[in-house]
Amino acid sequence: MKTNPEKFGATPHQPSLWTRADALKVRADDPTTTQPLVRADFPVLNNDVFIWDTMPLRDLDGNVTSVDGWSVIFTLTADRHPNDPQYLDEDGNYDILRDWNDRHGRAKMYYWFSRTGKNWEFGGRVMAEGVSPTAREWAGTPILLNDRGEVDLYYTAVTPGATIVKVRGRVVTTEHGVSMVGFEKVKPLFEADGNMYQTEAQNAFWGFRDPWPFRDPKDGKLYMLFEGNVAGERGSHKVGEAEIGDVPPGYEDVGNSRFQTACVGIAVARDADGDDWEMLPPLLTAVGVNDQTERPHFVFQDGKYYLFTISHTFTYADGVTGPDGVYGFVADSLFGPYVPLNGSGLVLGNPSSQPFQTYSHYVMPNGLVTSFIDSVPTDETGTQIRVGGTEAPTVGMKIKGQQTFVVAEYDYGYIPPMLDVTLK
Ligand code: FRU
Repeated sequence: MKTNPEKFGATPHQPSLWTRADALKVRADDPTTTQPLVRADFPVLNNDVFIWDTMPLRDLDGNVTSVDGWSVIFTLTADRHPNDPQYLDEDGNYDILRDWNDRHGRAKMYYWFSRTGKNWEFGGRVMAEGVSPTAREWAGTPILLNDRGEVDLYYTAVTPGATIVKVRGRVVTTEHGVSMVGFEKVKPLFEADGNMYQTEAQNAFWGFRDPWPFRDPKDGKLYMLFEGNVAGERGSHKVGEAEIGDVPPGYEDVGNSRFQTACVGIAVARDADGDDWEMLPPLLTAVGVNDQTERPHFVFQDGKYYLFTISHTFTYADGVTGPDGVYGFVADSLFGPYVPLNGSGLVLGNPSSQPFQTYSHYVMPNGLVTSFIDSVPTDETGTQIRVGGTEAPTVGMKIKGQQTFVVAEYDYGYIPPMLDVTLK
């Protein structure tokens, strides 16, 4: 891992680089970094909706938190359309794959609750129709602020544009369930600036989303991670020695990898409430390696900063590849330098026989990793698939120094609380 003095010269820290040499070490199907096969006969949480990105309620230190004994998760959610003529094929059958692939355009934030950390009960939409300023409510983080049940939901307001926003509400519990009240006034926080983070004007395929606020365990200040791309016109990025890293002879050709420019962004709050933010240079860049480092998040363990982010096979650059899954990096201080976990960065990937079985992995501080089921093959050749849109089995993982190990598998959507808050 190298740093990049050229672009971020006069800034407080140098982004760490995920290099092409690091990515050449990625090995799909290593059992210690591969998610167990998901069976095609998985249960579906709810047949009326697709769910994908799952966001457990947590505190600012990252602890998954229940309230009055109720676990709560938020999910990106979209209606299923089994009877909509738009989603029927020539034979009049429901084309679930097309419906599933269209879901991003109508993503809304929903919540679910449970007494057992699984078998989630449907709560409903977090914001009423018309509250959120854009068509799409994309991923973010619900933060339980205090024992009055106040919740700040940070999320991404997309189309038009992509703005990191927050909305405040309250979680209310009874013996019978949980409801969300408030969530009526959405506050825009910031957008890509074009100097550190790529804008839509610089690249129509830009990414700027997935806020993950946290309190730094060392300096106590409020920060936020997010997904971005490195600023600059599409095609203008340089994949030089630093981005290539120490590759063997014959691996110097970078092809068209200048189009892949993912980064993990960071911002610092200027106030205690997190209403006023300043963007800082990225913590990590993947120029010439990968175009998406989505849903970045931390686990703070053993005095170290474990940075996790999800990525895809299709977003890798020419000459490097890896499975869909979660990748990780570790540093001794917040601003790095970050070193790829397991040498390559790969932490938990899909098996090559089921490359799309799961996605949007979220590593919790107890080592449990939740994700959703995308699609699982139902025949030998992989031409027939079953679409998921539901919670995947949770994976247990051990994090030791610069390595991680898959050690357990749990029930579908198992997200147990790490602490319980009794509401006043
Ligand atoms: C990850 C993701 C997020 C985004 C959402 C859009 O699965 O791509 O980065 O917020 O899904 O549906």
